[in-house]
Amino acid sequence: MDQESSQIIRDGIAYEKERKEPPAGFPMFPEVPKGRYNDAEYLAAEQTLMWQKAWLFAGHTDEIPNAGDYMLWQHGSAPIVLVRDENDAINGFYNTCRHRGAPIVRDEAGSVKRSLVCGYHGWTYNLQGELIRLRDKRDFVGLDTKCHSLNAVRVEQLGNWIFVNEDLNAEPLLEHLGPLVDDFAQMQPEKLHFIHRDVFTVNCNVKVLMDAFLEVYHLPSIHKNTVDRFLDHRGCHISLFKNGHSRMITPWRRDDWVDPGTVDMKQIETITEIPLTNNCSYNFFPNLVAPIDPAGVPFLLFWPKGTDSMYIEVIWFGPEPKTEPLTKTWATRIKNFERILEEDTQFAEEIQKSIGAKSLKGMKLNYQERRIYYWHEELDRRIGKDNIDSALQLPELLADYVEE
Ligand code: FES
Ligand SMILES: [Fe+2]
Repeated sequence: MDQESSQIIRDGIAYEKERKEPPAGFPMFPEVPKGRYNDAEYLAAEQTLMWQKAWLFAGHTDEIPNAGDYMLWQHGSAPIVLVRDENDAINGFYNTCRHRGAPIVRDEAGSVKRSLVCGYHGWTYNLQGELIRLRDKRDFVGLDTKCHSLNAVRVEQLGNWIFVNEDLNAEPLLEHLGPLVDDFAQMQPEKLHFIHRDVFTVNCNVKVLMDAFLEVYHLPSIHKNTVDRFLDHRGCHISLFKNGHSRMITPWRRDDWVDPGTVDMKQIETITEIPLTNNCSYNFFPNLVAPIDPAGVPFLLFWPKGTDSMYIEVIWFGPEPKTEPLTKTWATRIKNFERILEEDTQFAEEIQKSIGAKSLKGMKLNYQERRIYYWHEELDRRIGKDNIDSALQLPELLADYVEE
């Protein structure tokens, strides 16, 4: 972050701390209708028109370090295999043979030599997904092997982070992420290493928990003895960016506060003043939340598992390669974070029950919670108003508040 943006953020934080009410003219939000969290038709449209067309985080290059290494990614419309080829490019294909649909790889991760061979009848594809060999070709009338490559998905990277998009016409990743790319340059994403991955299941619609990670209004209640002791939610400075992405910067209560959990860890030297003295948390729309830190960054990924169940994946990245076993400091850092996560998830299942009951009509949001409203606005833009029941739509209110 350059000097000018840092100054804007410092001024923004000072303004937020002092203000007596929202800025003049800030809109009052209508309730977010609860059907957006449990209406079958709405959720089906969300699946096909948003999730299956979005840039989604899939993995880190350290997870498939050598040519022929692959990993399965199971959060698309069908399983997708990511494989590193001989030119060090990472390619992504549906894990579905073009002969009769058998899986191409059957393990979560592994390594092949030069080709991917279907276990059913032996059709063989190179690491670019082209069909290069098949048995008894003479028995296929008029088969053009060139037209039987594995069906590809888009795979692009921000540094070492691999993203996937099932929409072949999607805007290129880095253009799509816009200002987040510049902000993340200070993290040196091309040098960060994969450290650790955990997955937790929670019985609620994915948006119930997604919402929880877009605001800090809840700090003095559910994180009273943890995060609230060092973060001042009243100074929270929010930026809304194009394509639904956003940033939330929450100041430390004291400028000289040092995170005791990271004191001995290697620091990313290029990180700038704002993330050094504040908590900077990003949302890459739709489901990636990344609170950056000089000692590394966790990616929190929120995945729908069904209409009322979801996974949270927590993946850690740091400036030094991971050790086996993890260093004591990393193990403690990860464990402490899990405790915060438990605080964050404690109400989710009951909120989902309330959504199913007559007692709740919708979600009432305040100015501090405007990232949630913005997220939902973007969801409707992606799905398209024509595909949403009018009772479940949200009016667009935040266009004037989006930063360039
Ligand atoms: S299904 Fe793959 S070779 Fe037959
Ligand atoms: Fe929280």
